Amino acid sequence: MSAAPPEAPTAHPTAAIGQDYNPFDPAFQSNPYPFYARARNEAPVAYCPQFNVWAVTSHELITHVLKSPTLFSSLHNLEYTVVLPAEIEALLATGHYPHAPGLFNNDPPGHTRVRALFSKAFTAQRVAEMEAGIRTLTEGLVEQFAHQGHVDLVAGLAHPLPMTVIADLLGVPREDMHRVKQWHDSWMTLFSPQTPLEEQRVAARSCVDYQNYYAGLLADRAAHPTGDLTTALVQARVDGENPFTAAEMISQMMILLSAGHETTTSLISSLLYNLLRNPEQWQAVRDDPKLLEAAIEETVRFTSPVQMEPRVAKKDTELGGVAIPQGARLNIIYGSGNRDERAFPDPETFNVHRPQPARHMGFGWGIHFCIGAPLARLEARVALEVLRERLPHLRLAPGFMPEYEPSFFFRALKKLELVWDSQ
Ligand code: HEM
Repeated sequence: MSAAPPEAPTAHPTAAIGQDYNPFDPAFQSNPYPFYARARNEAPVAYCPQFNVWAVTSHELITHVLKSPTLFSSLHNLEYTVVLPAEIEALLATGHYPHAPGLFNNDPPGHTRVRALFSKAFTAQRVAEMEAGIRTLTEGLVEQFAHQGHVDLVAGLAHPLPMTVIADLLGVPREDMHRVKQWHDSWMTLFSPQTPLEEQRVAARSCVDYQNYYAGLLADRAAHPTGDLTTALVQARVDGENPFTAAEMISQMMILLSAGHETTTSLISSLLYNLLRNPEQWQAVRDDPKLLEAAIEETVRFTSPVQMEPRVAKKDTELGGVAIPQGARLNIIYGSGNRDERAFPDPETFNVHRPQPARHMGFGWGIHFCIGAPLARLEARVALEVLRERLPHLRLAPGFMPEYEPSFFFRALKKLELVWDSQ
């Protein structure tokens, strides 16, 4: 969170609260909710001098930002959140495909064009057609550990299921999945100030290798088209021309792979964790299959696998009575909006029976509303249905303590240790 907006105020009245915002700190990551509650109540638009960003924490103001793309831009959402040393920037620049606007890091009209292309791949019908394949994949994964009596569900199911699904959609061959995941994870480390220089060097080189890998996949699909998303990118036409540069296509592939698996890994593991921590709700979901959809939505609200997204003010404006200068960077914190007591009664409680007067914002809102939401919901539903059927006596391993991935974007369990009695 560095690229400085102009004229950052040094002593803003909200800075006393904003200075406690540190999404890179492991202690903050493990429990950001006390900060969110305080910020919502005392300064829902708080200036954070240490990062030169504004933290937006109330449901009402986050909704306003999301509904106002002409005021708040998404164009720079993929800029590195830390100032990378010149040496690292130079390594990244050895690649031929600099990050380019795609979907979540774009504004209209470019965003509209890309969204139209991808929308076709994620229609309700296309997603419904994927159910049988997702079920077979899930059953195969669960079968691999069903006899063990214990599993880390993240490693056993919550990661490999969405990773395989999104890799298949993109057309990444299964045998390449492992190295693609390594490149992806290495790339992600560039977004944290905690990453040591040596690791940044490795990550910058990996990022270039990763981009080149997708360039190769694009070239392959240009010569040998299939029905995958890479082929759809290569074959996209507007007025007879492909509207995307190679760099744009590669950025879109990198983002889709990321958005398509990390989020859903968190959703699946959090869904199980939230239910197993509340055995009466786990029982209710087992007894009444219709409650499963509510449990998925409640997990997206309660856990908010995507905790925040950035925006940049396009002009001088005002938000909740606070003056926001043009160029100011905002972090809109879904994880806080989803726990706003003004929108959700008893917001800190996970409750599958919750009446839904206010829509959660865990999949975003407005023009950037998550394009993969139907797919994420499907994967979570199938995962839970298969587990409920195959291992009905699942429970948390004795003494299990949740630990979260070191990420300021995603809220995701590192592990989910489960046990069951073999039947
Ligand atoms: C956008 C959350 C699953 C692809 C978003 C946004 C959120 C979100 C909050 C809005 C970003 C913004 O406003 O800047 C989630 C959650 C998921 C999930 C919580 C799972 C539980 C997926 C999956 C895919 C996906 C499975 C792809 C297969 C995208 C894309 C966008 C997006 C491409 C950008 C859409 C646009 O800018 O028009 N997601 N997502 N997401 N998501 Fe998801």
